[in-house]
Amino acid sequence: MEENSIMQEDIVKTAREEAEKAEGSRALYEVKMKFLGRAGIVTSMLKKMKELSPEERPSFGKKVNALREKLEEGFAAAEARVKQRELQEKLQSETLDVTMPGRRQKKGALHPVTRVKNELVDIFAGMGFEIFEGPEIENDYYNFTALNTPADHPARDMQDTFYLSEEYLLRTQTSAGQIRFMEQHRPPIKMLSPGRVFRSDDDATHSPMFHQMEGLVVDHNITLCDLQGMLDEFARTMFSSSSKTRLRPSYFPFTEPSVEVDVSCAACGGKGCSLCKGTGWIEVLGAGMVNRRVLENCHIDPDEYTGFAFGMGIERIAMLKYGINNIKLLTENDVRFLEQFKD
Ligand code: PHE
Repeated sequence: MEENSIMQEDIVKTAREEAEKAEGSRALYEVKMKFLGRAGIVTSMLKKMKELSPEERPSFGKKVNALREKLEEGFAAAEARVKQRELQEKLQSETLDVTMPGRRQKKGALHPVTRVKNELVDIFAGMGFEIFEGPEIENDYYNFTALNTPADHPARDMQDTFYLSEEYLLRTQTSAGQIRFMEQHRPPIKMLSPGRVFRSDDDATHSPMFHQMEGLVVDHNITLCDLQGMLDEFARTMFSSSSKTRLRPSYFPFTEPSVEVDVSCAACGGKGCSLCKGTGWIEVLGAGMVNRRVLENCHIDPDEYTGFAFGMGIERIAMLKYGINNIKLLTENDVRFLEQFKD
């Protein structure tokens, strides 16, 4: 009896010591099986029961059960300890430093040419203009002949053209879209046509590829006054509420009369500065009343209808609006330059 209980205490003590030494739940499980598993000490003790006399069996059985309970309690406590420790370690190794700044996503911005183009579309769409985009590869007819500029016409020299073949070329002006649009639509017409154009030209203010915005209005009783009214509205919205426009006589084969349109210099308010070369005015676009020959080419009766057209360089507007002094900045895509156009 006495001897039995001493033995039990030893077992519990050994179990406790071994459980404490166990590093991690796997090792602890192995210790537990050594005592409580199917081939463990407790089971082997129970197997010994049959060697005992029937009188001895009940009290022995009770003791073994008590031992098992003690061991189970001990292991449950050890398991809880190990789990807690493991959780602690896991939390420590996976610590997040919430004060560390995150990786920032760089925010893009619209290119100044796109910004100006969108603004122009907004201004003119507000006046009821419809957007039309013509092809960049044009044929001679749309780019020149139908625009009253036949093959031997001296005005062809006004633009240095990239020819692709005898017949095809890179359009030099979005005016080609006027013809395409008038072939497909009858008056009243209010068309706005943005797009790339190409000319063999290259310096600080000219680039072989640039963008134009073409406008065309054809209806009964359209006059130059309507043109200037719309351009005033454009200048006030694009540049400043006090901007004014001025028309100067000019020449384009497809308009008659033709005008060059100046906007009062927004940098000096018209007083004269280096930007406007002391004149107080800046030339922004070409325009005029649609030449009757052009209307005839599109089978629109020039005695019934009149119209005006204008064409502006989008880069030029962007350069004036943002004070950009070299057109190359608009095609180099230097992020330090483009970043300045964030909202
Ligand atoms: N197409 C002319 C140019 O590129 C501009 C223009 C358009 C002039 C429409 C008059 C009317 O220079």
